[in-house]
Amino acid sequence: PKTAIFISGRGSNMVALVEAARTPGFPADIALVLSNRADAAGLVYASEAGIATAVVDHKLFAGNREAFERAIDAVLVEHGVELVCLAGFLRVLTPWFVNRWAGRLINIHPSLLPAFRGLDTHARALAANVRLHGCTVHFVTPELDDGPVLAQAAVPIVEGDTPETLAARVLVQEHVIYPAALARVASGQAKLVDGRVVIAGDTT
Ligand code: GRF
Repeated sequence: PKTAIFISGRGSNMVALVEAARTPGFPADIALVLSNRADAAGLVYASEAGIATAVVDHKLFAGNREAFERAIDAVLVEHGVELVCLAGFLRVLTPWFVNRWAGRLINIHPSLLPAFRGLDTHARALAANVRLHGCTVHFVTPELDDGPVLAQAAVPIVEGDTPETLAARVLVQEHVIYPAALARVASGQAKLVDGRVVIAGDTT
């Protein structure tokens, strides 16, 4: 399926998805990289990689989230997009958009959900004195960072970690699990059914 990746900044997860999608037999085709910010660094990589890019600037919609999302949706339809990956996209999506794309919209979050929803996950994990941290790919539901889990990876928290060193350790794993999760959704192996992830052939 034609897949769009939404970014707001650096775009390292986007790069990982694009690179994975170039490997023979990968089931998703990255057709579009969309950003809400024209200055997102990841847009440069995407256009140099020959991928269509689009900017839909939320500031032009005067706080009207649904108008912003209708504009995004129009771009997706124009590009024939069937699947959306959020990758560091820093806008909360409304139930209108999330329901419209239900089962076709996935996100990566830098924590082991349901722990540490929201922002500053690495600092919060350190402050909580937990020993394991990590990342989660999940289907997006209207509740923030709350959807059914597709993939997770754990990393240890070690003596002397700062939010930055921990973030870097987690990011390595993000770049592994996000392409793997996208492949499962794009191939139809993993599906959202009645609010749960169903894996084809899994009878447990
Ligand atoms: C990643 O840690 C991702 O999990 C979070 O925002 C960060 C985006 O990084 N949602 P990048 O833009 O993919 O490099």
